[in-house]
Amino acid sequence: MLVGREDELATLGGLVQDAAAGRSGVLCLHGPAGVGKTMLLQQAAAQAGGTVLHARGVESEAHLAFAALAEMLGPVLDLRDGLPAAQARALGSALALEEAAPAAPFAVASAVLGLLAAAAEDRGPVVVVVDDLQWVDEASRSAVLFAARRLDADPVAVLLGVRDEEGLDVAALDVPALALGGLDADAGVALLTAAHPGLADAVARRLVADTGGNPLALVEIPALLSAAQRGGEEPLPAQLPIGRGLERAYGRRVGALDPPAREALLLLAAAQPGDDAAGLARHLVGDGALTAAERAGLLVLDASGATFRHPLVRSAVLAAAEPAALRAVHGQLADQPGASPDGRAWHRAAAAIGPDADVAAALRDVGVRAQTAGAFVDAAAAFARAADLTAAPDDRARLLLEAAAAALVGGRPALGRELLVRCEQVARDPLVGVDLRALRARVDSRSGQPEAGADGLVAEAQALPDDPLRAGAFLLEAAAIDMANGRMRRMVQRATRARDLAAPVAPPVAALAEVLIAEARMALGESAEADAVLDAAHEQLLAYQPGTGPPEIVAMAAQSATWVERFDRAEALATRLVAVLREAGLVAELVYPLGVRALVQLRLGRLQRARADATEAVELGDATGFETALGYPLGVLAEVEALLGEDDRCRAHATRCAALAESMSAASIAVYGHAALCLLELGRGHPGEAADHGLAAERVEARTDVDESAIVRYLPNLVEALWRSGDEPGAARRLAVLERHAQRPGHTWAAGAALRLRGVLGPDEEVDDWFARALEQHDPAERPFEAARTRLLLGERLRRARRPADARRPLRTAVAAFERLGAAPWAERARVELRAAGGPAASAGGPAAAGAPGVEELTPQELQVALLAAQGQTNREIGAGLFLSPKTVEHHLSRTFRKLGIRRRAELSGALPPT
Ligand SMILES: Nc1ncnc2c1ncn2[C@@H]1O[C@H](COP(=O)(O)OP(=O)(O)OP(=O)(O)O)[C@@H](O)[C@H]1O
Ligand SMILES: [Mg+2]
Repeated sequence: MLVGREDELATLGGLVQDAAAGRSGVLCLHGPAGVGKTMLLQQAAAQAGGTVLHARGVESEAHLAFAALAEMLGPVLDLRDGLPAAQARALGSALALEEAAPAAPFAVASAVLGLLAAAAEDRGPVVVVVDDLQWVDEASRSAVLFAARRLDADPVAVLLGVRDEEGLDVAALDVPALALGGLDADAGVALLTAAHPGLADAVARRLVADTGGNPLALVEIPALLSAAQRGGEEPLPAQLPIGRGLERAYGRRVGALDPPAREALLLLAAAQPGDDAAGLARHLVGDGALTAAERAGLLVLDASGATFRHPLVRSAVLAAAEPAALRAVHGQLADQPGASPDGRAWHRAAAAIGPDADVAAALRDVGVRAQTAGAFVDAAAAFARAADLTAAPDDRARLLLEAAAAALVGGRPALGRELLVRCEQVARDPLVGVDLRALRARVDSRSGQPEAGADGLVAEAQALPDDPLRAGAFLLEAAAIDMANGRMRRMVQRATRARDLAAPVAPPVAALAEVLIAEARMALGESAEADAVLDAAHEQLLAYQPGTGPPEIVAMAAQSATWVERFDRAEALATRLVAVLREAGLVAELVYPLGVRALVQLRLGRLQRARADATEAVELGDATGFETALGYPLGVLAEVEALLGEDDRCRAHATRCAALAESMSAASIAVYGHAALCLLELGRGHPGEAADHGLAAERVEARTDVDESAIVRYLPNLVEALWRSGDEPGAARRLAVLERHAQRPGHTWAAGAALRLRGVLGPDEEVDDWFARALEQHDPAERPFEAARTRLLLGERLRRARRPADARRPLRTAVAAFERLGAAPWAERARVELRAAGGPAASAGGPAAAGAPGVEELTPQELQVALLAAQGQTNREIGAGLFLSPKTVEHHLSRTFRKLGIRRRAELSGALPPT
């Protein structure tokens, strides 16, 4: 019987009700041991009605990948066949329902999302309860959290339970959390007197106060007291056991049982998810042993089998066990006929004394299977345990190396580092040493020390004169790290050496190196030669398939194509790359390419589309915790928001971009954050602030050897900001740089911007000439934003030359163009100028002429969904590609229809901004 907890139940009940009404929600209930989390979760689930999916973590040495998912999804697995093929396969392989197929880290997670949504669609509201999340296998945990964060318009409530102080950081889960404290005084006393009718009232009140209302303590402590203490005649002990402290009290109760009951308890305590330990105990020690434990209040026996009265009973049983007895029960559990191969291997490991080659081999297989299914952290644990059981130092070192590599791919560099330290202590083979140091370099580069990481890789490559393939791969990796650092010259050197080494042995690797070299040279300003290389590689890059090399190289090729205004190539590459990565369900890998596609859209003046792509990139980066790639889309998003006049979002994203990039010494990326703020302030008419941010961008960029203003494109803004704040010499100095860059092929943007700035800085009589030439460069159809900026400055300049009548025409055109683009702050600036020049106060061109009405009201996700629907994709296909449920897709589409004033999908393509 539950006492108290009215508020908490109302909160949880609200979530369940929301789910019934078609809105998903998630809450993590956390608190100390015995505070009542499990009880509350069970009560909320019992009141839910509909489908309840349940899983519970078990404290154990074993790391059984996807064990909790198997438990949780059991009742709805029959719906797997209705999932998109890639999801059904990933899930089937993870749950060992079919042959293991290689899966990406988040493939199973998006399948869980799909299955929960399908269950809700098919059977009505679903409540997912995952208790003791701190002990749930890592693969299941990250899949459940991913799904919980991305469910939206689905009747699904996700309730999580976490015991504090067991190593799981609730704040880092990034879901709403509720800290559960003890019962209040009245509820506590009610609980005590219900369980122990003879207890004196004053003693009850005292116990509630001394235990902080911890219900487990309240239930268990009176049994530990003497009759005189219970009656209030003798004082209570000074130290009452609470939380984990109750383990010892349970331990004493376990010790009082007879040997068969203790053995039965030990079998249950050593069991892992999937074991039929109760069946085994019945078989080996008999029913009587189980019922004796039940009588002692340590077990609950019911239709679902035998469960411990509380998880602390399990800890108590394990703590009290003789090591030999524990090994023996693990041996018995390993021999159960129904044991899974993974479960058996972990039991055998726990039963082993000293090194055991067979068991180590079996555990290595467990690790390989987990890794294949995308459970990298659980795989790392299996490899590490296999290493413990391996005698030969180099074999052991190789297993530790495998473990560290898996930990790194699984996003746990700190664990990887720890494993590498252990590896270093045993490795003797020089080749293992090379791999070890290369891996350490990789760990460094992903955990905030890219410089050291890249240097380490280069050093290892030098130590491998007889292995050009591996040396080449190391150098290539080091070169790619330099891209973010902005050390472009060194990047060229490293990639060139990689290419020369790989050319005779691995032509595809050499070709990738060639592309990297070209990308770096492009950033160094060698546009013509580099562009020719990228142009020649275009078809090959377009044919990219996941698994044939890092997708970043293709995304970088698209990015660098924008620097020389080859937008056709850039868009084709980015669009194709995004499509194949979506198709393959590669969530984390999409983050950077989506950011690049956003950049392409931005440069083409399609601000809404740019925002949709960049927003999705940031969401996926957050959902996967993949921070390395997050800085770039944050920077692009901030620039888009600066243009759209979304000041607060722009500031938040720009600041986060710069901070994240700085923390990873990624100077090239940090520039974007500062540049977005410069643009924002310039658009808002704050030249002083704009100049400060522009100068910050310049300072950060000076730490790189980038010599290409077309990359981040802040230079004309800095020139304008300096000029407006009175620093003409400063403006002129930067203008000279822009003019130098404008000489390069494919730099009409720089050329036009430089010419218009000449017009601004030059004498009155030259105005017409400079601006006419600038406008020739910025064809309004191709560069609408730049052309409108040129007209705005022209109008302003003409007014300053006392030609207000001449100023009005370009200003009217500029207002209309900015409005069409949705660049609100700039439209406003142009309107103010127009009024000052004696023009009409009203808007010049009417509401957004080019986009259909309503498009700017769409949220980024609505637009993303609408664009795919306009291409003819079904809701299910769109959902699979965007990692959303079909229901959420439907929800977005119906809102989109309303905003656009249309009724049918067929009308979508006409209502959306042009491609
Ligand atoms: N609100 C309540 N009303 C009545 N009894 C309660 C209440 N909350 C908890 N209890 C009692 O306290 C015991 C411990 O609670 P519970 O198992 O829910 O704690 P927990 O927070 O899940 O602990 P752990 O972190 O160890 O899993 C329960 O078995 C139940 O007997
Ligand atoms: Mg609990």
